[in-house]
Amino acid sequence: MEKEIKEETHDEYFSYITALQQEIKDQNYKYHIMTYGCQMNEHDSEKIAWICEESGYYPTENPEDADLVLLNTCSIRHSAEDKVYGKLGELKNLKRKKHDFKLAVCGCMMQRKESRQFVLDKFPHVDIIFGTNNIYKLPELLLKNLKTNDKEMDIIHSYENTDNSLVAKRIYHYKAFVNIMYGCNNFCTYCVVPYTRGRENSRKLEDIVQEVKNLVANGVVEITLLGQNVNSYGKNLNPRVTFTDLLREINKIEGLERIRFMTSHPKDISEELIYAFRDLDKLCNFLHLPVQAGSNDVLNKMNRKYTREDYLKKIKRVKEINPNIALSTDLMVGFPGETEENFQDTLDLVKEVEYDNSFTFLYSKREGTIAARSENQVEDDVKHERFERLLKVLYPIQRKKNEAFIGRVVNVLAEQVSKNNDQVISGRTEEFKLVNFPGTKEDIGKIIPIKIRDANSFVLTGDKYHEKS
Ligand code: SAH
Ligand code: SF4
Ligand code: F3S
Repeated sequence: MEKEIKEETHDEYFSYITALQQEIKDQNYKYHIMTYGCQMNEHDSEKIAWICEESGYYPTENPEDADLVLLNTCSIRHSAEDKVYGKLGELKNLKRKKHDFKLAVCGCMMQRKESRQFVLDKFPHVDIIFGTNNIYKLPELLLKNLKTNDKEMDIIHSYENTDNSLVAKRIYHYKAFVNIMYGCNNFCTYCVVPYTRGRENSRKLEDIVQEVKNLVANGVVEITLLGQNVNSYGKNLNPRVTFTDLLREINKIEGLERIRFMTSHPKDISEELIYAFRDLDKLCNFLHLPVQAGSNDVLNKMNRKYTREDYLKKIKRVKEINPNIALSTDLMVGFPGETEENFQDTLDLVKEVEYDNSFTFLYSKREGTIAARSENQVEDDVKHERFERLLKVLYPIQRKKNEAFIGRVVNVLAEQVSKNNDQVISGRTEEFKLVNFPGTKEDIGKIIPIKIRDANSFVLTGDKYHEKS
């Protein structure tokens, strides 16, 4: 057991799990988790799932069958919050139908006063509320609620108590997320994450390496290291270690095939990290480097702390050191004050970089952030129009990048049976390209050579490659 959390808190946590097992034994209660937002939340949901199962709940895919539904929420954009409110409305029916049905809400929205208050005011059928820093409180809150039926709420804003050692129920047997740090110190002026996830806090290198070793011993071949700003990894550790030091250690682990990470911030991606893409054989040929916008004026107002020129220089360096690297980015349109000319700078930048993939967002005003106070918010129709124009530039480039794979043999980690056709398997190349190929579910979890025969802007298609064929 790691020492990041105070020992007595840990003992308490396990004693609540035991008490909860007793309380619900023979009830055959089932739980269902709905997850919104990023990989951080997906991984937190794996921890919540472990807690539920350890406490005696059984999983169910169907919320109608569940006795406990948990909504792990995201606050990043208004639309993410609206989805949760819609779902909470729908779940009122389940609460009416089943007298012992319990509804819990957690995640980033619950760390924000405005959203939490809204849930308290509008959705009185919510039984339990907790936050991102105190997932370990769930057994205690559930137990109290089951006994008294009183609403239980516990939020802590201090991230120092975040339990780094919570066990996760791993959804996939062949790939896994591993937290390397929590929080963010960057305060981009549009973003809620520093408020919902607290300040940066790195886990110890030895603990991370041990976690990866354990995963690999259990069959995991690909890990994704998670942090909002992985380039800052280790700044609060003594002795100081860098993110690249961590990558080097993980690269040595026998049996591990692929290392990915999310997300690095352009302002402090180091030369050392750029070289890692050439030197570390397990580090995938893929870099997600969110630029947000192409105009210096906008970047400055966003508090991104790099210029367009800095960004392009780093990209050039990455391509020099590793010409085969695939690049992806996040882009936002309609930041307050964004002019047509500023937007043109974004279009020019994406044409110059030629991204393999991108995530595009309409700026969403978040209460409590600096950008929300700006008076010159961009009109919705202008935002939408710019968004469409941006996609029209991005997609043909993606298509061209994908078509360049036609005829090549690439290693694909087979991940799932296609939703539309059970004879088709989808997986990812090192470059994070989605590939569909004829196969069976026995392929899942294996890295398979595939010869690509077709491509569009979003997916490659190919066939298993046998050297002699
Ligand atoms: N830590 C990561 C990003 C986390 S949020 C980074 O800095 O790269 C993921 C993406 O959501 C951001 O890159 C940004 O493009 C988008 N985003 C964040 N806040 C937003 C807002 N208020 N409106 C629209 N998009 C937003
Ligand atoms: Fe948000 Fe900026 Fe931190 Fe990313 S780096 S999480 S965009 S504040
Ligand atoms: Fe959303 Fe929280 Fe992730 S706000 S994007 S779930 S860190």
